[in-house]
Amino acid sequence: RRMTTMESLIGLVNRIQRACTVLGDYGGGTGDNAFNSLWEALPTVAVVGGQSSGKSSVLESIVGRDFLPRGSGIVTRRPLVLQLHKTEEGTEEYAEFLHLPKRKFIDFALVRKEIQDETDRITGKSKQISPVPIHLSIFSPNVVNLTLIDLPGLTKVAVEGQPETIVEDIESMVRTYVDKPNCIILAISPANQDIATSDAIKLAKEVDPTGERTFGVLTKLDLMDKGTNALEVLEGRSYKLQHPWVGIVNRSQADINRNADMMLARRKEREYFDTSPDYGHLASKMGSEYLAKLLSKHLESVIRSRIPSILSLINKSIEELERELDRLGRPVAVDAGAQLYTILEMCRAFDKIFKEHLD
Ligand code: GDP
Ligand code: NA
Ligand code: MG
Repeated sequence: RRMTTMESLIGLVNRIQRACTVLGDYGGGTGDNAFNSLWEALPTVAVVGGQSSGKSSVLESIVGRDFLPRGSGIVTRRPLVLQLHKTEEGTEEYAEFLHLPKRKFIDFALVRKEIQDETDRITGKSKQISPVPIHLSIFSPNVVNLTLIDLPGLTKVAVEGQPETIVEDIESMVRTYVDKPNCIILAISPANQDIATSDAIKLAKEVDPTGERTFGVLTKLDLMDKGTNALEVLEGRSYKLQHPWVGIVNRSQADINRNADMMLARRKEREYFDTSPDYGHLASKMGSEYLAKLLSKHLESVIRSRIPSILSLINKSIEELERELDRLGRPVAVDAGAQLYTILEMCRAFDKIFKEHLD
């Protein structure tokens, strides 16, 4: 199957975003150039929730690969900006870090190790956190074009070895992402805790009171007490959002320890919903595959509605880039020039696809 026009456009948006990141604070870091505005105009999805609520597990399920450090306690200690790039059918799946631009990762176990090592490089092996993000791109025919951000879990108390300020530090780090009007919030709450105490919902309610950019995700349905179910939440009676709640069953720690693979986990999750006496009637709207589709459909409609403003920013960027390239002189040999040139080409491609297919 060939990519649709929207897929190509979203793919380009993704690549422009990545290229803008590579350039860092191009424009003197003042933040008022077309580039930074472009980055800010593009939607991203941030995963928010309490510690061990299942954030990293949900991300992995969406990607369909095993590559994130997970477990009890504070495992995710730096933001991970994860860009998924859909490639043509039949091409090989690989990952690439921004800090290791020349290295292609084919083995996803090594991706996990690199995330751990790169986290330790900045924070030390302690339980400290850092707001400096790790940027990872995955290129695969099996993903949807999405930018996802994994964040440290919200917590209520500092543990041994952590500074007292860690509780506020994590919250303010998470806020810098979810405050942005273009941030889609994936609010993760575990089903085995009372939804009224959910850190994710508490924060989402504050920054997105109308619930238009919040997706409620309920994990750990398999861990609820026997005889109870989560229908009050899943059917929107406990806390209503504009988008429907999605229930999820991720791999348990025991599954992870015995290396249960992702495809098996997806099958088990599907089976769980299909055979559940409580959730059978909702089965087609539950599970991580459904969540991935729901998100990409939403992203598509957001990008569609923003195309005019994205386009005008892109045109502004094209002008700025041309000026900048003129200043540098062509042909451009230096790295920055080459990067600018790449972005310019992508912006032009976006403009062209748009004019040919959607105008
Ligand atoms: P994070 O701290 O929010 O990123 O949470 P993780 O994804 O690291 O998960 C924390 C722990 O909860 C891990 O041991 C997971 O295996 C487990 N876990 C997450 N989701 C589920 C679920 O839906 N069911 C079960 N049984 N365990 C889960
Ligand atoms: Na954790
Ligand atoms: Mg995590």
